[in-house]
Amino acid sequence: MQVLETRVDTGSEAYRENFAAMRELVEELRRELRTARDERSEKARRRNAELGKRTVQQRLDLLLDPGTPWLELAPLAARGMYDGGVHGAGSRAGIGVVCGREVVVLANDPMIKGGTIYPLGVKKTLRVQTIALENRLPMITLVDSGGAFLPLQSEIFPDVDDGGRVFYNQAWLSKRNIPQLTAVMGLCTAGGAYIPAMSDHVVHVRGTGAIFLGGPPLVRAATGEVVTAEELGGADVHCRESGVSDYFAEDDADAVRLLRDIVSTLPPGRRAEFACRPPAAPLYPAEELYGIVPRRLHVSYDVREVLARLVDGSEFLEFKALYGPTLVCGWAYLHGFLVGILGNNGVLLSESSLKATQFIQLCDRQGVPLIFLQNITGYIVGREYERGGITKDGHKMVNAVATATVPKFTVMTGASFGAGNYGMCGRAYSPRFLWSWPNARIGVMGPAQAADVLVSVKNDQLAREGQPPLGPEAVEAIRGPVLAFGEQEGSAYHSSANLWDDGILDPAQTRDVLGLAIAAARNAPLEGRDQGHGTFRM
Ligand code: COA
Repeated sequence: MQVLETRVDTGSEAYRENFAAMRELVEELRRELRTARDERSEKARRRNAELGKRTVQQRLDLLLDPGTPWLELAPLAARGMYDGGVHGAGSRAGIGVVCGREVVVLANDPMIKGGTIYPLGVKKTLRVQTIALENRLPMITLVDSGGAFLPLQSEIFPDVDDGGRVFYNQAWLSKRNIPQLTAVMGLCTAGGAYIPAMSDHVVHVRGTGAIFLGGPPLVRAATGEVVTAEELGGADVHCRESGVSDYFAEDDADAVRLLRDIVSTLPPGRRAEFACRPPAAPLYPAEELYGIVPRRLHVSYDVREVLARLVDGSEFLEFKALYGPTLVCGWAYLHGFLVGILGNNGVLLSESSLKATQFIQLCDRQGVPLIFLQNITGYIVGREYERGGITKDGHKMVNAVATATVPKFTVMTGASFGAGNYGMCGRAYSPRFLWSWPNARIGVMGPAQAADVLVSVKNDQLAREGQPPLGPEAVEAIRGPVLAFGEQEGSAYHSSANLWDDGILDPAQTRDVLGLAIAAARNAPLEGRDQGHGTFRM
């Protein structure tokens, strides 16, 4: 494969400015992640200690093999929402290694409103379950939750992707033979009681863990019976009498020891056979990405400079290098895995869409995972391009992306606007994982374009009514709010808060995160490759 040679001048003013701007974004990201992980009230800390419980971080530290990587999922979910303190939507989640086995872990945080489940907490749980299902990873849940966050119960309970779906998914995980282990470390109340009940293995902690359909306050209100949580659904009740729980644990540490023992008994699953070779570092330092990615979205740069800092040995076999140059496609190894990469180098045209379609088909046939580096303002617009059939060609790309059966991974590295989001494997196209860089922006179109469309629509209306077009003040009154909204709602933080991505990445960590994600995806054998794609409009 050809070695990508850099043309970046690391001494240039533009490089230095970009570098400083991205470093600031990365520092802000680190601060946000620290806050989400550590900011808990003194009251909650005291209560947790009084009950003899470990913190979520301590539970994870006990559970995971020392010195192994932890790929955190959605740590900034619900950021800035509710009262601003529901960090991570009330839970920690990630992919880690337990007894040498990759697993997905979800842990309620009892120090955030008693571990109660907010609407985005449900969304996070469903996302983690999807990751377990798609990658066939055993799922470990550390339950410690007051159940539904009652003031928002109508947003959590009734719909197809609300709370009930969590248990529906558990049934499907079980049917698909994906092991589910639950440690009951706190309350599992009402619907929450089904989390252990629907798991394959249930460990129950004496004293703090309790499972019941109605907690003591509800029982007292309904029947007048006065009973403690331990008497109603403690480890003694469920390990000795009801048979709901399987393993009796003295405390958190004992429960984690039991979980680890159970994981060590799980049979190895069948794996995807990805082509591999020994990994090699890229030739250029990852931090140089800070200086390469422009501060402003509309400034173009060569995506090959990014590839040179992501892939093994900076080696890249470019596919159709001279055709459809606004999309770079090609083969490379990343942490030793052969991958097919698509990276935007400008707006998507018919040729680049056709090239992408063919390349995706090839990777799908060959069982090669796909990586999308998404930085796209959209498909080209205008009379010439409509006549040339851009919609028809864009459709082929969108169609191929949707039905490709190999694992797909998307990194939002800049703009994500319009149908470009779809063609480049946005969230709705089921990439196994999707991350944003801190500079990423997402929307139906850029805020300035959206504002101009609205002004133009208004002026057309006025013209129909025989009135003069909007004056500068009226134009500003329309543009101002749209621009402000676009700035806020289009940001990577807004995306991550809403779980439109699996997290925001320091660009310099992209290579390692992708490597971990591909390794996780390898746990699911490749299926359905012989089924091809749908009908392509010619
Ligand atoms: N909905 C909304 N808020 C809840 C809640 C719920 N279901 N359960 C607890 N909270 C809040 C409390 O109001 C408190 O808020 P504050 O910190 O602003 O005062 C916070 O969570 C912690 O609760 P607290 O009772 O002080 O902590 P604890 O560690 O002693 O007990 C629970 C935690 C979860 C065991 C206990 O609060 C409880 O039993 N909650 C009700 C559980 C229930 O019946 N849920 C049914 C819903 S399906």
